[in-house]
Amino acid sequence: MGLLEELTADTVSIPESILKLSTEEMKNRVWEIKKTLGKRLFIPAHHYQKDEVIQFADAVGDSLQLAQISSRNQEADYIVFCGVHFMAETADILTGNHQQVILPDMRAGCSMADMADIHQTESAWKTLGDLIGDTIIPLTYVNSTAAIKSFVGKNGGATVTSSNAHGMVKWALSEKERILFLPDQHLGRNTAADLGVRLDEMAVWDPIQHKLIYEGEIKDVKVILWKGHCSVHENFTLKNIDDVRGKYPDMNIIVHPECRREVVEKSDYNGSTKFIIETISQAPPGSSWAIGTEMNLVKRLINEHMDKKIISLNPYMCPCLTMNRIDLPHLLWSLENIIDGHPKNIITVDEDVSANAILALDRMLARA
Ligand code: 13P
Ligand code: SF4
Repeated sequence: MGLLEELTADTVSIPESILKLSTEEMKNRVWEIKKTLGKRLFIPAHHYQKDEVIQFADAVGDSLQLAQISSRNQEADYIVFCGVHFMAETADILTGNHQQVILPDMRAGCSMADMADIHQTESAWKTLGDLIGDTIIPLTYVNSTAAIKSFVGKNGGATVTSSNAHGMVKWALSEKERILFLPDQHLGRNTAADLGVRLDEMAVWDPIQHKLIYEGEIKDVKVILWKGHCSVHENFTLKNIDDVRGKYPDMNIIVHPECRREVVEKSDYNGSTKFIIETISQAPPGSSWAIGTEMNLVKRLINEHMDKKIISLNPYMCPCLTMNRIDLPHLLWSLENIIDGHPKNIITVDEDVSANAILALDRMLARA
């Protein structure tokens, strides 16, 4: 859902009957409804969700894990997705027609996914095709709209997530001379650089100026990066790294590859949400870590690993605002609507969009 749609979305205020409940009463009611609905209800939650939501999750995962879990679940009638809009769309694409995917708050979008719309993508594709012919395969980060996934599927490409980006970029480069990587320039650049693609072999497509930006010769361009970014991960800077190194010289720095290239290059480790969680879990007691990723997850890691010193790489970091839209009152409201027989905020991807999007997702899931 784009920013305009988010602002004008039917945000349906939470009824007074829910808002007047204490946190304890809301929690008890959610447990009660979960018990009543049993296996008819499934609640997947992304690692960036708040603890007040995570406690009710039937599965917690990163984008790839949640896509895989959704594709396996054929049992639940209602999938109440605690994450953002593109994740709920993916779940709808991968689940059966008998299942309803519900997003507890329609304002839970993703600013990165909003940075590539289908019209911009189609016109970029045409311009690039005129410039360099049929030499490009599109790849899209799952953090994109269903329409973009569909475009990518139709044009022989695949989706990627931060935990399989290396394998997918390698695969794509074996299929065609060049990749168009949407919508996160940083994940695209960091992954391609790890695979040995030089920075001067990468160009940036600016969808606002409708222009390809590159140095050197166009024939040498191997990766075309869509000029999009995550507004959360872009907030980690070289100054944050210098500050941490100055204050805690022995501290390990680990960041998500949605961070800028220079931040990834200067940190000790970089990898997906799953990689960050596993690295911290396996680290020896007493070790110290500055983490460059979303704040709800960093806070959870701090609480779960009291035997390690963990801080956020940026001390002024906030959680992802759109992920944070999903809270206990919205979760309860969604569940009450199901119980009342009138589920709301059902995410439905059109059949024709879904048919091509599934090609892109299946190409990824076959290799994941
Ligand atoms: P992953 O879950 O793939 O690590 O992505 C991080 C993210 O920004 C999700 O919105
Ligand atoms: Fe989008 Fe970044 Fe928030 Fe993930 S963390 S939902 S990529 S804005």
